[in-house]
Amino acid sequence: QDPKVAPRPPMGFNNWARFMCNLNETLFTTTADAMVEKGLLAAGYNNINLDDCWPLKERTAKKELQWDPKIFPHGMPWLADYLHKRGFNFGIYTNAGNMTCGLYPGSQDHEEIDAKTFEKWGVDYLKVDGCHMDLQKNRTYYEEFEYRYKLWHQVMGKLKKPFIFSQSAPAYFSPNFHLDLNNTDWYRTMEYVRENGELARHSDDIKVYGNNPENIFEPGGHWESMMNNYDKEVRLARYQSCGYYNDPDFLIVDWPDLSLDEKKTHFALWSSFSAPLILSAWIPDLMDDDVAYLTNKDIIAVDQDALCEQATLVSQTEAIDVLSKNLANGDRLLTVLNKGNATKTATVPLERLGIDPDVRYKAKDLWTGKTQSVGSSITIKLHKRQTAIYRVSAASGAKKLDVTPTGQIFNT
Ligand code: GLA
Ligand code: GLA
Repeated sequence: QDPKVAPRPPMGFNNWARFMCNLNETLFTTTADAMVEKGLLAAGYNNINLDDCWPLKERTAKKELQWDPKIFPHGMPWLADYLHKRGFNFGIYTNAGNMTCGLYPGSQDHEEIDAKTFEKWGVDYLKVDGCHMDLQKNRTYYEEFEYRYKLWHQVMGKLKKPFIFSQSAPAYFSPNFHLDLNNTDWYRTMEYVRENGELARHSDDIKVYGNNPENIFEPGGHWESMMNNYDKEVRLARYQSCGYYNDPDFLIVDWPDLSLDEKKTHFALWSSFSAPLILSAWIPDLMDDDVAYLTNKDIIAVDQDALCEQATLVSQTEAIDVLSKNLANGDRLLTVLNKGNATKTATVPLERLGIDPDVRYKAKDLWTGKTQSVGSSITIKLHKRQTAIYRVSAASGAKKLDVTPTGQIFNT
């Protein structure tokens, strides 16, 4: 992993959680145009990523992958060019096993030729998923993953310009996936993916369907799915540093079962983690309220902060989680989540942030932009599933905050 490839967490778009295999060229060109028009590109969302189901089921005689010309009539180099001209990176998807999760051809034993094909097409960003892994040479499941993802790292290292390498290995060893209660393989996988690439999925997919099997597009369950990935993410803070980011999956910003508060919570938590901010939504119809929070400069600055720290839990009760991290200029982040179903008032002693109680502070509410002075604690009223996010700094005249490591878990 070379910190120059992705010096800050990637931001952008992926079709999967919203459109799944229902993808075509127009979806991506229209999305790119809408991202320019709505100010999302200017706010930093500059990767446009295709997910599964783009290729033909057969490779060429030379064993190259080929795009499906019915859904990509102008072809991938044309699409790459379309995106590059407008200022986007072009991302594509393949699979470390022998078939993709959607049963399209996988890259197992074709790593080198596929990397070269993607390079020829103008790809900048590659997601390598982990379905249908064929165990070879007596390797265990764990060993085959490690072998394949490290091989991908080597192969990409030989390209003229490295891809942003989005890995999926840890997700296949995550606590709900294999019911390994000790999660040893999950943590072991984290050790190599951080050396190997720029980001790694570590948990389940953010839900793509609703709860009703009779009508999959009837929404439901998206909050629970987001919180499930949040719970995994908080356990992995120590693996992240600038250049490698834990990936808790997409920001789903247009499922109607999520309230505006819930969507803003999702965005504030992912930003507090300095997580990748990859939108999966139909961008042309995004509501102004959604565009407004997604382009909040102060919160994006927390996500893209030069320390790339992942916020950690500094206190937790049944309803209220308090998270904090250091920011590069010496400020401290304070994020307070109400997970519960009722309005709550939370009082957070500033000591929880590991800062000097004798210094006077001010806190900027990053939703409203308003700054208040704070004493030894801050009291915040939160609606159901709402998140407050503050930048806490020493008041003028007071000495700067010490940047000390946070990361302990306290119980209030
Ligand atoms: C959403 C919409 C559906 C359809 C799918 C993508 O779920 O509600 O109408 O557009 O996305 O195919
Ligand atoms: C897996 C991944 C998803 C998506 C699908 C595509 O489930 O985790 O993000 O790429 O495969 O089939």
